[in-house]
Formats: sequence, C-alpha cells, structure tokens
Amino acid sequence: MSIKIPFLSKQSKETDSLSADNIPDHVAIIMDGNGRWAQKRGLPRFAGHKEGVSTVNKIVKTAVGANVKVLTLYAFSTENWKRPKQEVDYILKLPKEFLHVYLPSLMENNVRIETIGDFHALPNNTQEAVNYAKEKTKNNDGLILNFALNYGSRYEILKAVKQIAMDLKEENLDIDHLDEDTFSKHLYTDGVSDPDLLIRTGGEYRLSNFMLWQMAYTEFWFTDKLWPEFTEETFCEALLAYQQRKRRYGGI
Ligand code: IPE
Ligand code: IPE
Ligand code: MG
Repeated sequence: MSIKIPFLSKQSKETDSLSADNIPDHVAIIMDGNGRWAQKRGLPRFAGHKEGVSTVNKIVKTAVGANVKVLTLYAFSTENWKRPKQEVDYILKLPKEFLHVYLPSLMENNVRIETIGDFHALPNNTQEAVNYAKEKTKNNDGLILNFALNYGSRYEILKAVKQIAMDLKEENLDIDHLDEDTFSKHLYTDGVSDPDLLIRTGGEYRLSNFMLWQMAYTEFWFTDKLWPEFTEETFCEALLAYQQRKRRYGGI
C-alpha cells in the first residue's frame, strides 16, 4: 500500500512509491552543511544555521505525515564547542527560537519533545525553553522529536560505564546480570529503539561521534545536499532507499 503524506506540497515519484508498512520507526539525522550553504551565498555562517531551522520544521511535518515514531536530530555535538564563541552562542539560542515559533504547531501535530546529551552545560535560557516544551508536550503520543544537544557518543558511553562501575561497587548490580539491555538502560536513549535509518546531509561520510552504540545495525543514507536545501522530497527519497534495503542482522 502506498502512503499519502499530508503537508507535502506535491506528491513526487518518491512519495508515490513509498510503502506504508515499512516506514523506519526511528530516523536519525546529522544535519550538516549549514555553514557551507551560507558561505556559498556570501553570507555569514549563522545565516545557514537560521535557514536550517526552517528545514527542521519541514522535515518534522513530513516525519509526522509518514508515521515515523522517533526523529532524532543532531543539533550540537560535544565537539562543536571548539567553534568560535559567537557561533556557539548563536547555535545554542536556536532551540529557544525554534520552539518559540513552532511549539503551537508541534502541539497540533501531537509531537513530544525530548533531548539527549549533556543538558546541564547548555545556557540557562535554552534549558528553560526546552524544559517548558518537554513539559507542555509530555502527554502527546505522536512523533517523538528528540534533539541531540551537546551530545557526544563517547561521553555517553563513558558515563554509562562509570554508573555501572558504581552500581557494581555498591552491589546494586551483579556482574553476571550485566548484558546489552542493562548497558543500554544507562544511555541517554533509554526507552527509545535504536535508529533504523541514519541520514547525513552535507556530503561527509562519517558519524562525528553520533550514537555509536545505538547504530550497530542502522541503515546509512548520505546526500551531498546541504541541510538548508534538504527538502521533504529528499527525506522521502531516503525513506524509499531504506525500503529497498535488506536488513540481515548477521543472518542470511
Ligand atoms: C551543521 O552545519 C550544524 C552544526 C554542526 C551545529 P555546520 O555548521 O557543520 O556546516 P558546515 O559543515 O560547516 O557547512
Ligand atoms: C556534526 O557535524 C555535528 C552536528 C551536525 C551537530 P560537524 O560539522 O560538527 O561534523 P564534522 O566536524 O564535520 O565531523
Ligand atoms: Mg559541518
């Protein structure tokens, strides 16, 4: 059965061929290429980040329409602190701006906001805006929109190892009971299934410290399109590519 995605301005050959029964539950996106998008137009880098926010809105709507259950967006990595302070400050203000403009439509679309990452290192007003949105959307049972903010996978894994070491030391955990599920419960993604599909825009073919544990069997899809020029149709193209993959998990 093919799927009709509401909100799409026009149905394309990608959306027409999409099947409703094999939509990935969890899509993760490395939203890359904002800076280059701006530079190509002779604009300052922040203009690319600003434009990228409109792409987020479009893709969230498409994900809702396609019945994706979880959309995880890599918005700021633990390594992004290396950038000039002005750029870091600008990027870290965007969650508040995004929520200010789009929270009403997120509510209308039954979207629940979540985050992964070291939240407490974020500026106070970013934390407040995100906490407000989490609280406001907590009873929504549609798409989970999960922002990776100040997220680093190695830090996340190390944090889990430290918590587990503490549990073992305090005899709250028996080493024979430590398995993959128990380990996963100590990650930020506890309770969320592993990504089925990873999309990276901007033409780079790397993970940049994103969900290393969780992506053991994720399908990867890359595009040269820069994040501000990523469209609903490109998103559907990725979903279609996913539907043509054969996932074997080591079997035959
Ligand atoms: C991705 O775009 C956004 C963040 C990392 C926050 P970039 O800012 O990395 O854009 P490029 O890769 O420099 O073009
Ligand atoms: C990855 O993009 C991080 C985010 C999109 C938030 P980067 O632009 O930081 O990745 P590298 O530095 O090219 O690996
Ligand atoms: Mg980049």
